[in-house]
Amino acid sequence: MEIFEKLITRTETSSVKWDRTKEVFGTNDVLPMWVADMDFEAPKEVTEALLERVRHGVFGYTFPRLDTKEAIMKWVKRKHHWEISSEADILFSPGVVTALSTAIQALTNKGDKVLLQSPVYTPFFSMIEKNGRKVENSPLYLHDNRYQIDFRDLEQKLSMPDVKMMLLCNPHNPSGRAWTKEELQKIGDLCIKYEVIIVSDEIHSDLMLRGKIHVPFASLGNSFSNQCITCIAPSKTFNLAGLQASAIIAENKELREKITTVQQQQGIGGLNALGITAMKAAYEQGDQWLEQLLLYLEENADILTSFIEARLPNVKVIRPDASYLIWLDCRELNLTEQELTRKLLYDGKIALEPGSKYGHGGHGFIRMNIGCPKSTLNEGLLRLEKALNS
Ligand SMILES: Cc1ncc(COP(=O)(O)O)c(C=O)c1O
Repeated sequence: MEIFEKLITRTETSSVKWDRTKEVFGTNDVLPMWVADMDFEAPKEVTEALLERVRHGVFGYTFPRLDTKEAIMKWVKRKHHWEISSEADILFSPGVVTALSTAIQALTNKGDKVLLQSPVYTPFFSMIEKNGRKVENSPLYLHDNRYQIDFRDLEQKLSMPDVKMMLLCNPHNPSGRAWTKEELQKIGDLCIKYEVIIVSDEIHSDLMLRGKIHVPFASLGNSFSNQCITCIAPSKTFNLAGLQASAIIAENKELREKITTVQQQQGIGGLNALGITAMKAAYEQGDQWLEQLLLYLEENADILTSFIEARLPNVKVIRPDASYLIWLDCRELNLTEQELTRKLLYDGKIALEPGSKYGHGGHGFIRMNIGCPKSTLNEGLLRLEKALNS
């Protein structure tokens, strides 16, 4: 898998991960393993499609045609056995975070509560709050090193009359936990019972490791697909986040129309020309590359786990079902977050996401991105050891 071994300089490419460390961490002298993109080239099929599009040379207004929608429908059917009923159910959004914000604006009112399950991807909190809604949290808990849902707490929160929406992260960022069919059914039954709309963020769903299965929430039957909208994108899967192309699947016409109205208010129309090209090429031709990527990520996860077990016994690895983000439990080190951050930045010279960014339950954890060549990973692990053993 030589393609993933290639070291590519990403500084001076306007990369958030590589070019924003000074702004965010106060220093450039760190190995960045924070932002959730990979240091790999996209599949060559995607790059070739982009080159051909660029050579065309005309970059007027664009919109995703039926062939892009068909590529999406075939992809989710092939990968996740999910049959989207009609291409009319597919809307587009520059990003999944934009889609979350649009959904919150379209499907809830100011002052309503939106439920999330912390620790969770930071923009879940900010999109709720910046849109004048309130966060209702039903925290996950760790049992045998695996995150679980407290269903009694979830039901109690969903039954509150002002909770109108639940943001579901499946697979979950930062823990990599993929929710099972049974868990999703329980969530869905509760949301239907209490008339809570689900926004299922499935951006990490193509990155299932070791043959684990992703269950799209909407694939669990009509009553479920009617109660939800789903956000997907090729951005994590094929490392295309900078091209800003994602899709919203809304099989419920009423929800879809409300989302369309807000998109029109915001002037969100189609997608950019390169985003469309990349999305279509990735979903049509990316299978083989993805297979290779998953094997590489599994190896990286094994390397990290062995290293930490051998050299940092006070740190626990939360083994992910999916994706390239590893959630590390450092609570046994008994460090404040300030001490942990300082050690990582100044002793180890490594930039990682501090756990508190993910809300309640995140303190004492760090998130490490292993979507990189093994040489970078090994360097990162040595820096982590240096930081935490200092
Ligand atoms: C759960 C989740 N949703 C959304 C995003 C970002 O999506 P986008 O770049 O399409 O806005 C991320 C990126 O890390 C993520 O982990």
